[in-house]
Amino acid sequence: MLKACVFVIFGSTGHLSRTKLLPALYRLHQAGRLSDELVVLGVGRRPWDDAQWREETTQWLKFRLGDSLDDGALAAFLGRLHFFSGDLNAPESAARLKERLDNTPGFPPSRVYYLSLPPSEYKSAAAYLAAAGLNKETAGWCRLVVEKPFGYDLESAKALDHALHRDFTEDQIYRIDHYLGKETVQNIFVFRFANLMLEPLWNRNFIDHVQITHSEVAGIEDRAEFYDATGALRDMIQSHLLQMLALTAMEPPANLDAESIRDEKVKVLKSIRPISKNAVHAHAFRAQYTRGTVAGQTVPGYLEERNVPKHSTTETYAAVKLLIDNWRWRNVPFFLRTGKRLARNSSLISIRFKHPPQQLFRETQIEHLPPNWLLMGIQPEQCIRAELQVREPGIGMRARTTQLDASTCYQTGYLLDAYETLLLDVIEGDHSQFLRSDEVQWAWKVVDPIIKEWAMERDYIHTYSAGSWGPEEANRLFEREDQGWRHSFECESE
Ligand code: BG6
Repeated sequence: MLKACVFVIFGSTGHLSRTKLLPALYRLHQAGRLSDELVVLGVGRRPWDDAQWREETTQWLKFRLGDSLDDGALAAFLGRLHFFSGDLNAPESAARLKERLDNTPGFPPSRVYYLSLPPSEYKSAAAYLAAAGLNKETAGWCRLVVEKPFGYDLESAKALDHALHRDFTEDQIYRIDHYLGKETVQNIFVFRFANLMLEPLWNRNFIDHVQITHSEVAGIEDRAEFYDATGALRDMIQSHLLQMLALTAMEPPANLDAESIRDEKVKVLKSIRPISKNAVHAHAFRAQYTRGTVAGQTVPGYLEERNVPKHSTTETYAAVKLLIDNWRWRNVPFFLRTGKRLARNSSLISIRFKHPPQQLFRETQIEHLPPNWLLMGIQPEQCIRAELQVREPGIGMRARTTQLDASTCYQTGYLLDAYETLLLDVIEGDHSQFLRSDEVQWAWKVVDPIIKEWAMERDYIHTYSAGSWGPEEANRLFEREDQGWRHSFECESE
């Protein structure tokens, strides 16, 4: 049954709301996935009324969705939109918000409060809601959605949890990591646990190493303030990339309920070998982009971006090597890497298998036999592919790499965006794709030693040209010469 509620967006005029939340809500509306009674209440400081909010939203959706925007669907969607002008720093406006929520005809009693705000405002937003009693589930349920990064480090994450738990129960809190809503990320789970043939190979006896890459061509766009205080390690690795690692490495859960899945992910995070202060350089690398060329255009370096402090050493590229100390993964390195202004947009999990134990083909024309790879493309390609060696037809013993698609590349047709999936889960009260409090804390424990060390090194940071694949020096994380970054989903030997 479609659930009726007021979907309240704090920070409704900000980047996330414009680019992800409103388009996702519109698409869910268009696909008939929202209850007729669901309304969206934008909250912001601007002195707007409903009409202006609808007008602005129309412009954002046109910009974002272009031709896929349907006039009829848009008109009906705009009818769901309302605006509340209020300031989190003006607590008296909380009473007005309550009045508006409680007494507007057609507003259902259940509420989602989506905090699309800078992380520094999560605590005050929760307190603001509680001050007006908006955390109480009297007539309907209420749920609080908190974006990442959840805190700045382990201590602040604990403090934030403590503050939120004063007014909201764990059951009411949804810590979102939108990567968990992506098709292929959800497919990792099915691919691993619905197929028998992978399980015997999925361990240290057969896997040489695992790489998880998220690269972006774009720079920091208009998010200098957020990004400079955050950096690539916190922005991507502590959250999205560690989640992908956990799904790749976890044991099968006892069943599909939220707690069983999250228990297994936590076990992986807990088993990651702590990085000692002295080992940070061997396990982590950071860099910052300088001016370069992207799609034939010169683009500014990070320090030249608007609102970035001139001497910032915030990293726009981060790579780490992690080891999971359990029976399955002991001594299999997991390399995680992310960066802005890199050569290509790509999110890819690449699993490299070991070489066969016997060098049977040494005396043949097969000079160098590449190992098998299993590639799970998150975006732009959404695919799972295995690379195998096959014999070239003809005289002599030659081989080439061929790729088997384990799932069709679903690049065309209607794809559910990650936010669409996750917003529906919140409305339906399903926690399984959201992070539990201990899960977030274990993820911070993994990166905290790196954060601390980098915070001490404020004088120097490696650089790379915008549009490149990042600095060569990042290769120092690898353990052997035959290991190296896998940039592409395409067959590398072709
Ligand atoms: C966000 C980060 O969580 O994820 C951004 O804050 C990043 O910096 C984005 O660009 C990437 O998400 P997606 O879905 O565009 O790959």
